[in-house]
Amino acid sequence: MRVVLLGPPGAGKGTHAVDLSKEYGIPHISTGDMLRAAVKAQTEIGIKAKGFMDKGELVPDAVVVSIIRERLAGKDCKNGFLLDGFPRNNAQAKMLDEMLAGIGAPVQAVVYLETSNATIIRRLTNRRVCKSCGATYNVLTMPPKKEGVCDLCGGALYQRTDDLESTIMNRLKVYADQTADLIDYYKKKGLLKVVNGDLDRSAAYKEFQKTLASIS
Ligand code: AP5
Ligand code: MG
Ligand code: ZN
Repeated sequence: MRVVLLGPPGAGKGTHAVDLSKEYGIPHISTGDMLRAAVKAQTEIGIKAKGFMDKGELVPDAVVVSIIRERLAGKDCKNGFLLDGFPRNNAQAKMLDEMLAGIGAPVQAVVYLETSNATIIRRLTNRRVCKSCGATYNVLTMPPKKEGVCDLCGGALYQRTDDLESTIMNRLKVYADQTADLIDYYKKKGLLKVVNGDLDRSAAYKEFQKTLASIS
């Protein structure tokens, strides 16, 4: 199953992708997670990307596409993948189409998590992430058992540097200006499915399962 998760920051792409990846046995590929790992490791890509990410701007296409090209060539992608946060603009979407056409394995569905701005801001300002394993929590809706500590690995929780309210506003603008066009792009291709991102985690997940049931 080759699926793209599309939606604004805070829609729940990463949260649902973790669960879907377990259920369907396909890798969760998040360009945001990969870029944050590169920043942490201070690789050449990480050093290039950090400034863009801290401002909530998109990292240049060439950087992101090279990461994706390498990742999709991985053996674990043979049976499919869940793309989270890629593509993010028309140029990236076209490059993805070309890349996948080259191996005869096009995208089968694009799930758009339609989410209101009020939900987004409430979720992102309350998000916490594990420093060690990357697990995501929410102070309001998905708190860890012990405050500030990851349930899964005991690591310390932190707030992403781009989850400041001023940066969130810019990420929303970037989404509206550059990413939202992809809704139409995939609708025209007949690939778009919509899930209500405002629903709570389990209700939204059920919509995902229903939506993906028809895709092999
Ligand atoms: P990225 O990491 O992709 O960030 P984003 O798109 O802004 O999305 P988020 O990760 O913030 O939201 P999400 O939808 O995953 O929400 P989550 O599940 O965590 O990108 C970061 C940066 O990297 C970009 O700004 C850019 O600089 C760069 N970048 C990445 N990809 C790029 C690309 N392709 N091209 C160029 N640059 C790129 O949920 C949010 C919170 O809500 C959590 O606290 C969660 O616990 C909670 N929650 C989730 N779902 C629910 C629910 N249903 N009910 C209640 N709470 C919920
Ligand atoms: Mg995410
Ligand atoms: Zn952890």
